[in-house]
Amino acid sequence: MESLQTIIATCAPEAGLSSRIIPFASGTSLKERLSANPVLMAPMAGVSDGVYRTMARAGGAGLAYSEMVSVAGIHYGGDKTWELVEPLATEPDIAVQLFGSKPDQFKEAAAQISERLGDKLALIDINMACPVPKVVKKGEGSALLDTPELAADLVKACLSEVSVPVTVKIRRGRRQDEEVAPEFARAMEAAGASAVAIHGRFATQMYRGQAEWETVNRVCDAVSIPVIGSGDMLSAEAAAHALTETGVTAVMIARGTYGNPWIFKNTQALVEGQPVLVPTLDQMLASFMMHVRLLDAADIHIARARSLSTWYFRGIPNAAYWRGKSVKCVTAQDFIDLALEIKETVKRLEGEQEFPEHNLPMS
Ligand SMILES: Cc1cc2nc3c(=O)[nH]c(=O)nc-3n(C[C@H](O)[C@H](O)[C@H](O)COP(=O)(O)O)c2cc1C
Repeated sequence: MESLQTIIATCAPEAGLSSRIIPFASGTSLKERLSANPVLMAPMAGVSDGVYRTMARAGGAGLAYSEMVSVAGIHYGGDKTWELVEPLATEPDIAVQLFGSKPDQFKEAAAQISERLGDKLALIDINMACPVPKVVKKGEGSALLDTPELAADLVKACLSEVSVPVTVKIRRGRRQDEEVAPEFARAMEAAGASAVAIHGRFATQMYRGQAEWETVNRVCDAVSIPVIGSGDMLSAEAAAHALTETGVTAVMIARGTYGNPWIFKNTQALVEGQPVLVPTLDQMLASFMMHVRLLDAADIHIARARSLSTWYFRGIPNAAYWRGKSVKCVTAQDFIDLALEIKETVKRLEGEQEFPEHNLPMS
């Protein structure tokens, strides 16, 4: 089996991605780091595994988050929980996001993660944004927006155990039209948080409506720590707009990364007035194959390649036909053979062509 590093070295150039994931110099503060590269990969449950994060870093992300990890899961010592936390050899460092509501469990989780990850732990983020009923009814995720004192205790609990920055991710408020984000962010800053990420929707909105950037600006005005904006950055243009037109220090991109690892570098390019990379069909398929090979080498369930094929194959002529074929793929080699077949077929029919950057609106 090829090593992850070999796969990156051989596949990244063809995919228009970087074959060198450059670590940040140790001693760089979070503020300096965010200023140097303000485009981050957001936490995504069921998506942001080590390979997904590696692809994001190869695409230029300044930092990539784990999915939200249960502090109770760490407490009970589940291997599955630790799988979410362990970085791959290809990752210089990661941000680990925790959720829960018990200060003691946060203390324990922070200490164990810090010990296990060492230099590979860039920061600990606390989820105060998740709107899922199963989480909220236990007083976790966005329910913490109603209990700022407990939320502050969670920040302090982590800080007592780690030397890396502790940050929080919040929403605009829990219930429609009850905005708490600015004062809540101020309370988290007072508790010692080094940055606040804000998704500009109320928790009860889930993903409905639009993220509200005026709220994000109000949070920026309320605190002096860096603010990381999240919400509806489905294209490099939208992310660059947020960076240049709002007060945020950085942005974190979630759904816009689907089948689009170039979005990170392209966002930076737009901010700097540089040309963007519009991936060709060859680059899209090379990126898909690189991702599949990394999943295989990292021993991550290859079923993840199914959603990848949906994301990468949109925009390809006859996409529905190819997606139908991808449903029948079982092994990594099946997915790679399919990508090669697409490449050959499309080339034969149309010759090489360019495809626009993905701007697919999500539900
Ligand atoms: C599939 C999926 C899983 C997510 N999981 C998490 C999570 O584990 N923790 C978290 O804080 N946010 C999570 N989010 C929210 C995103 O981090 C982000 O704040 C939100 O999707 C808005 O950004 P976007 O418009 O760029 O998608 C998730 C979003 C998606 C789409």
